[in-house]
Amino acid sequence: MLESMAARHAAGKGSEPDSVFAVVAKIREAKKLPGAENIIDGSIGAMRGEDGEFSILPVVDEEFRRLPAETLMDYATISGSPEFIQAAIDYTFQGFQPADTTAAAVATPGGTGAVRLMIFNYLDEGETVLIPDWFWAPYKTIAEECQRGYATYEMFDEKLQFTTKDIKAKAQAYLEKQSQLLMIFNTPGHNPTGYSLSESDWADLIPFFKNLAMGSGKKIVIGLDMAYVDYCGDPKEARRFLSMFTDLPENMQIVIAFSMSKSFFVYGMRSGAIVGCHQSAAVMKDFTNIHSYSARGAWSNGNHGAQELLAKINNDSQLSARADAERGALVDLLIERAKIFVDEANEADLKILPYFGGFFITIPAKDPKALCAKLMEQNIYLVAMGKGVRLAVCAVPKSKMPGLAAKIKAAQKAIEG
Ligand SMILES: Cc1ncc(COP(=O)(O)O)c(C=O)c1O
Repeated sequence: MLESMAARHAAGKGSEPDSVFAVVAKIREAKKLPGAENIIDGSIGAMRGEDGEFSILPVVDEEFRRLPAETLMDYATISGSPEFIQAAIDYTFQGFQPADTTAAAVATPGGTGAVRLMIFNYLDEGETVLIPDWFWAPYKTIAEECQRGYATYEMFDEKLQFTTKDIKAKAQAYLEKQSQLLMIFNTPGHNPTGYSLSESDWADLIPFFKNLAMGSGKKIVIGLDMAYVDYCGDPKEARRFLSMFTDLPENMQIVIAFSMSKSFFVYGMRSGAIVGCHQSAAVMKDFTNIHSYSARGAWSNGNHGAQELLAKINNDSQLSARADAERGALVDLLIERAKIFVDEANEADLKILPYFGGFFITIPAKDPKALCAKLMEQNIYLVAMGKGVRLAVCAVPKSKMPGLAAKIKAAQKAIEG
C-alpha cells in the first residue's frame, strides 16, 4: 500500500515524535490522577508563576486589549511598520549597536522565523550551517526544510568548560568548502544549557572571525539567537557584547534573531524580527529586500497586533518602564529558582553544564531517556536531549526546587551506577 505522496525531499519527515511535546502529553495524563499537585513539570519553555499559572506581563495584556479591532485583524506590512522596525532595533541593541553601522530589521513570526531567514538567505542550497552540539532542535528542522545541511561545534570540553577550539576548527574547515559561512550562537542564556558567552570568549572569537574573513575573501555571517537575552541578569549588560562587533571587515556581519515570545510573554502571538547591522547602508538595504522577499514567499506578513504593541511600548517611556519592571520581577524569580537548583546540584555532586541564565539547565547523562523515565516514576518530568536531560527552571515553582537536584542525582546513580 502506498503510504506517502510526498516528494523525495519530504519523505519520512515528521515521523519522529517531538521530544518536548511527547513529555507534555504524558504530564497531561498524570495531572488527571491523584497526587497531581506533587508533579514537577520541568518540560516546557514557558515561564510559570509560583502558583503554576502561565506568566504574563500585565502591561502587555492591558495594552494589547486596547488595540482597535482593525489593528488586530488587518494585514501588517511585509517587512513590518517603520515604528515596529525601529522598536525591534532599539530593543535588540539597547545602546550597544556596533559603532559606525547602519541597522535594519524585518518582521518575522518569532525568533523561529528569523532563524529560518538566516539559514535560507545566508547559505546556498546544500551548504551547511554550524550550530552548537547542544542545540535547540528546530535549527536542524529548519536547515532540513531549507535543504541546507547542519554540523555541530563542541561547546564544552571534558571538564565541562566552554571551549572555542572546535568552533574555530569547524569554521575554518567549512569556510574552505563553502562560498560562505553561517555560524549560529544561541547566547546569552543558551537553550538548553544556560551558558552565555563571556566578553572574554568574544574577545577570543571576534578577532579570529575577522582574520578568517579577511584572509578568505568569502562572506562570514555570525547569527546570534538572542531569545533569552532578558533572562541573564541585567538586560543591558547582557547586550554589551554586541558593541564588540565593531570595525568588522566588509565581508563579515552579525545578524540577530529577536523574539517577542520570551521578552514579552507572547509566545503564541508569533512575533519577532531579523535584525542586522553593517557599515554599508547598501548592504542593509539589500538585507531588507532579501528578507522581506523571503517573508512574502514563506508566511507573508507578521502579527499586526503584536507589532503595534511593541511599537507602542517602545514609544512610551512609562509603558517601557512598566514592562521592564514586570519582566524584572519574573527574572528575579527565575534566578532564585535556578540558584536553589545550582547550589543543591553542587552539594549533591550532580554535574550540570555551566548556567548563567535563560529558561533551562542541563544535566549531562549517559542515557538521557532512561534517566527521564526513572524520574517520571517519581512524578518528575524533564526532557531527554541527545547528551543530557533538560530542566525548564522557568516552569518549576521555587517551592518544588529544594530536593530536586538530589533526586536527579539518586536516579542517575541508580541507572549509571
Ligand atoms: C533557542 C531558541 N531560539 C529561538 C526561539 C524562538 O522562539 P519563537 O519563535 O517563539 O520566538 C526559542 C524558543 O523556544 C529558543 O528556545
